[in-house]
Amino acid sequence: MKIGRNDFCPCGSGLKYKKCCMGKEKEDNHEGLKEQYYRKYKIRLKDPADIQGIKKAGELVLQTLDKVEEIIAPGTLTEDINTLVHDFTVKNGAVPAPLNYSGFPKSVCVSVNEVICHGIPGERSLQDGDIVNVDVTSILNGYYADCSKTFLVGNVDPEAKRLVEVAKTSLFKGIEQIKPGNTVGDIGCGIQTYAEAQGCSVVREMVGHGVGFDFHEPPQIPHFGKKGQGVVLVPGMVFTIEPMINLGKKELNILEDNWTAVTRDGSLSAQFEQTLLVTPDGYESLTPYE
Ligand code: MF3
Ligand code: CO
Ligand code: CO
Repeated sequence: MKIGRNDFCPCGSGLKYKKCCMGKEKEDNHEGLKEQYYRKYKIRLKDPADIQGIKKAGELVLQTLDKVEEIIAPGTLTEDINTLVHDFTVKNGAVPAPLNYSGFPKSVCVSVNEVICHGIPGERSLQDGDIVNVDVTSILNGYYADCSKTFLVGNVDPEAKRLVEVAKTSLFKGIEQIKPGNTVGDIGCGIQTYAEAQGCSVVREMVGHGVGFDFHEPPQIPHFGKKGQGVVLVPGMVFTIEPMINLGKKELNILEDNWTAVTRDGSLSAQFEQTLLVTPDGYESLTPYE
């Protein structure tokens, strides 16, 4: 359901939508919206200087993922990926956000095959045919950017390859919903509709999130949902979209380490993530890749 002309304006003014922001979503009301979005949702809209800062962090995260890709091969330990990400991040004057975040023991999440997310690097070695998500978040000059890709290790089965493609396209199905006036629900609906039509399932427990000043800020961005529901997108919002897509059922288990999320049915899971900015015309990725 879209917001109706006679509904209260999502900007929080208390006026009807038609008497307030309707049709003006693209206009420059940044300072007003900033106050309203913070008051109503605790969402911190970003200024141009903030966006530059997050973009710089994003460039570093993308470079880090390029470095990681160079060592993805059978025999590489997930610990080797951690070492590379940690050292490269620090060498470039940044801080790996995962390290000690809520007690997370490593500098990057590395999630192989049936691991949905939050895999802890260690002695597991990559095998020919594996799929592996590497999720990098770096803090540069106080700004956070969060981005992940799923890589193929050697020769991967067609069905696993298809899952990885579905997960990547799911991310882009979410991204293409980003524009002022659309809602958080439009993003989730775009992802869920596509992924389920491909016979895959969408993980519910972990969601995208506001990002930039902190690792996880409001709002939450579910990768499922209904058109028109949830917070209305406005310019200056920065958040991640990071759908976790399973080949089997959507349910998960958390392992004894209290971090590693795995598919309950043991099926493969893949994920892609970018940090996105809502612009007056649509969106800009602050961690862009094709
Ligand atoms: N990078 C993950 C995300 O996309 C969060 C990882 S939390 C950690 O939100 F502690 F496991 F690093
Ligand atoms: Co994230
Ligand atoms: Co992430």
